Amino acid sequence: MSKQEKISKITTAVVREMKKSGEKITMLTAYDYSTAAVLDQSGVDILLVGDSLGMVVLGYDSTLPVTMEDMIHHTRAVSRATKRAMVIGDMPFMSYQVSVEDALYNAGRFLQEAGAHGIKLEGGRDVAEATRKITSAGIPVMAHLGLTPQSVHQFGGFKVQGKEDAAARRILEDAKILEEAGAFSLVLECVPAALAKAITQSLTIPTIGIGAGVDCDGQVLVIADMLGMFEKFTPRFVKKYANLNAQMKEAVGKYIEEVRTGAFPGEEHTL
Ligand code: KIV
Repeated sequence: MSKQEKISKITTAVVREMKKSGEKITMLTAYDYSTAAVLDQSGVDILLVGDSLGMVVLGYDSTLPVTMEDMIHHTRAVSRATKRAMVIGDMPFMSYQVSVEDALYNAGRFLQEAGAHGIKLEGGRDVAEATRKITSAGIPVMAHLGLTPQSVHQFGGFKVQGKEDAAARRILEDAKILEEAGAFSLVLECVPAALAKAITQSLTIPTIGIGAGVDCDGQVLVIADMLGMFEKFTPRFVKKYANLNAQMKEAVGKYIEEVRTGAFPGEEHTL
């Protein structure tokens, strides 16, 4: 059993300590009670109620239509299931960009109404002021740089970020600005592994990578991708640890057949 598996509650202090001791941080997304309970009992350190739920739960083409009400609803379900993991609520598009006051108010809702332990927001220097305001109110902030999906239209698609020297330099600068603004951790999405390594080495806060190579302090995947449930598309950086889509179809097919033939319900399922 690792040191972290023995810890009964993951906090910002624990993840900071994990970076120092070189123990990798595990994070997965969760959007509902049953899945969150399984992930928490399995020992995942951080459950991110990602706005990716817009795509994998609600069926939108991007994360942009996701609202605060959607996020609060799903974060509540995840919080109810979670005992050990840290629960992070993802600030949806337009919940923090309009004003710093809006950002603080909406961040507070995740803790007050949904039981989250912190929030995540996308962006670099432009969200430094919001990060400072939210953290100074006692709300832990997870930053997010690289391919920030809420900016998909500005990027012209879901593309690797920071390939050119100037772009890489800017992401590194943004990372330092967000650390200075009080972020307790940083998600790096779809950036070259060498850049993620350089950022990880230059920060005291942990980095959590997705499509950012092995040198980040931790890793995150979207649960529907890693369990092989979401069929619409699979990014190259995703490893499928199961093929639940096929397994669910097989189970449901069997159920349909047994209902049709009268094999279900059997004696043992009859009251
Ligand atoms: O919304 C999400 O699931 C995310 C992760 C991919 C980091 O932001």
